[in-house]
Amino acid sequence: MRNRLMLHVVGARPNFMKVAPVMRAMNERQGIRQLLVHTGQHYDRNMSDVFFDQLEIPEPDLNLEVGSATHAQQTAEIMRRFEPVVDERKPDLVFVYGDVNSTAAATLVCAKLGVPVAHVEAGLRSFDRTMPEEINRLVTDQLATLLLTPSQDADENLEREGIAPERVYLVGNVMIDTLVRFLPVAEGAIAASSRRGWVGRPYVLVTLHRPSNVDDPASLRQLCQALGAIARDVPVLFPVHPRTQARIRETAGPLGGVEVCDPLGYFEFLALQRHATAVITDSGGIQEETTYLGVPCLTMRENTERPVTVTMGTNILIGRDTNRLQSEVKKILSGEAKRGRVPELWDGHASERIAGVVCGAAQEVTADQTRSI
Ligand code: UD1
Repeated sequence: MRNRLMLHVVGARPNFMKVAPVMRAMNERQGIRQLLVHTGQHYDRNMSDVFFDQLEIPEPDLNLEVGSATHAQQTAEIMRRFEPVVDERKPDLVFVYGDVNSTAAATLVCAKLGVPVAHVEAGLRSFDRTMPEEINRLVTDQLATLLLTPSQDADENLEREGIAPERVYLVGNVMIDTLVRFLPVAEGAIAASSRRGWVGRPYVLVTLHRPSNVDDPASLRQLCQALGAIARDVPVLFPVHPRTQARIRETAGPLGGVEVCDPLGYFEFLALQRHATAVITDSGGIQEETTYLGVPCLTMRENTERPVTVTMGTNILIGRDTNRLQSEVKKILSGEAKRGRVPELWDGHASERIAGVVCGAAQEVTADQTRSI
């Protein structure tokens, strides 16, 4: 029997920490050949290569080099360049990750060619269709063959949307697999880095890149002023995503006493999260990582597709209220931080469960779905 060919599609920073453990777990299985396709949605060294190096992800077999563009152009370009790859390689299954444009684009291509798709991190919903990621999640989950979910709320969302339960597998959170594996390495890396001085004293770590926060000049200015005010009480470190960097240069002006730097690699950022007094973010993954680490997280969004981080974890949704942001930071500094617990199946073994599903029980499901497409 020939080896089954599994193709993994990644494109943007939050995909890289998810593909790493899944490829490793699939490598342990017999009769599987794997190919890695990078769409090139993220291309800067500090948005892409550094994660491949640190997380020991194999060099991509193919890079589609799509780069940045409008959503429609980027999605269309990924589809245009990915279709011949699927046609030529004829994978038995294609893995897609998370909710970025590369995820939805690759899924659409496969669905039309009748190739089964496994969606890792399926079922999350913010119920906010102004977020490009929500559109990507909806499209991907309707078309994917196997839906691999991180938490029970995701299963409930999929059931409500009429997805057949035999396609849905609650496997846990693969990003936590990567965190668990690399936390000790990250601690070593920060101790040897020029930023080691941050660890061991109170500080707030910030990341912001969502269009809802950084594309509107008035909101961004207000946020920067609030960060400047917070920095008068406690040191603030802000590694800045390229999208935010451009917006701050254009419209927001100086950031007071906030220490600003380029985006950091996985190790340094993980260790800095672990030791932070609080994290201010609008990222999805960081809401989960802080919940696992037990670090207070203040999320500058009206909603979250990861509600378990609020109901069980350390996350608080602040919305756009910068006064509330400042008062929540003061509460944390005075010792009144929200405490939480780690959700079920966020245990470092989600990718092994994925390998089990894909290679075992799901073999029949995959075949059935293929026939029904
Ligand atoms: C994408 C994802 C988002 C994810 C984020 C993590 C979608 C819809 N969004 O948003 O879910 O949270 O990645 O980082 O897929 N740029 C560079 N270098 C790069 C990549 C981007 O300079 O390597 C700049 C470009 O000016 C580009 C802008 O950042 O226009 C935005 O990049 P893009 O990939 O379009 O979306 P993100 O905002 O990064």
